[in-house]
Amino acid sequence: MIRPELMETDMPERNRQVVLKRRPSGLPVSEDFAIVDAPLPEPGAGEVLLRGIYLSLDPYMRGRISGVRSYARPTEIGEVIEGRVVGQVGRSNHPDFREGDFASGGYAWQLYSAVPGSGLLKLDPAEAPISTALGVLGMPGMTAYVGLSDIGQPKAGETVVVSAASGAVGAVAGQLAKQQGARVVGIAGGADKCRYVGEELGFDAAVDHRSADLGAALDAACPKGIDVYFENVGGAVQQAVFPRLNDFGRMIMCGMIAEYNDKEPRPGPNLGAVVRKRLKIQGFIVSDQRHRYGEFRAMAAPLVKSGQLKYREDIVDGLDYAPEAFIGLLQGRNFGKLLVRLSDDPTR
Ligand SMILES: NC(=O)c1ccc[n+]([C@@H]2O[C@H](COP(=O)([O-])OP(=O)(O)OC[C@H]3O[C@@H](n4cnc5c(N)ncnc54)[C@H](OP(=O)(O)O)[C@@H]3O)[C@@H](O)[C@H]2O)c1
Repeated sequence: MIRPELMETDMPERNRQVVLKRRPSGLPVSEDFAIVDAPLPEPGAGEVLLRGIYLSLDPYMRGRISGVRSYARPTEIGEVIEGRVVGQVGRSNHPDFREGDFASGGYAWQLYSAVPGSGLLKLDPAEAPISTALGVLGMPGMTAYVGLSDIGQPKAGETVVVSAASGAVGAVAGQLAKQQGARVVGIAGGADKCRYVGEELGFDAAVDHRSADLGAALDAACPKGIDVYFENVGGAVQQAVFPRLNDFGRMIMCGMIAEYNDKEPRPGPNLGAVVRKRLKIQGFIVSDQRHRYGEFRAMAAPLVKSGQLKYREDIVDGLDYAPEAFIGLLQGRNFGKLLVRLSDDPTR
């Protein structure tokens, strides 16, 4: 049944969007973004009109708005900022979708999107809360799975260290490593996040990267050194972990959020240790592996349902607060997968 607010007569006449007003210099500020009204998009042939329910805010967006060409096209000034969304179909011109269906896909920081049905994943709210398609069962969860299985490959008894351990990627990476028999140490910012990582996610130890002596804290938490490092942060955390890697250690280069606002690249570690210790350091981009999403979901969805794969969401209400929440993400103010609620979630 179609919810009353989705009935055609009740469709709002206007859309609302967050556009890039100017390129940030260093940490973004709210003046870098503009919130604008726009006409309601009209779905064309093969498209659906999606009413956004949750918008995912992710660290990679800092790169997109910087203007630097990387593995993806940058957002231009005046363009709506891209982002993944979970929403409900309002109107459909695609045979696989009916009004009222829930779906996720990569669209933008806006309330309504007219999008090709072929790019949408249909969601079953009975299988998992729909918001999880943006976090533990979405791109971040799959990132943890790909990095760990393709690069880290922890063996039972090895020590795995995960940075940004309470976050969307780190929480999944640590729990999966633990299920593979590793001893898992999380690095997180502050006592609350460290408590969550140790007590709720079940990591063997948690280290606060704001500790006065991070190196000594890592030595205490990793008495046998570090075999696998799941790198989400870079900066001072990377400098403390790198010299503690064991022979044949693996460094999963997932992200370096602490450096995303830098105006100049920082000097890297001396790579002599890579030879001496026979280290493997490998980067990856999860979207290269998007064809493996089914494999990931088949593994992870039952674990989420049974409670063996825990997750936490940090939900901010209202599109207008997206810029502020995004700025907070780059400073560690989120606690769990950061989402913006764009409209009521009728499944909750
Ligand atoms: N390679 C890929 O395909 C891929 C895909 C998705 C994500 N990523 C990367 O994975 C990492 C985690 O992403 P996520 O979505 O899971 O984010 P998240 O962990 O949910 O949120 C970001 C966290 O990073 C930490 N952080 C932020 N600024 C920091 C700083 N200056 N120093 C130390 N820690 C800082 C904060 O945690 P604390 O308060 O605990 O420090 C913050 O909560 C990011 O680097 C992201 O770019 C890569």
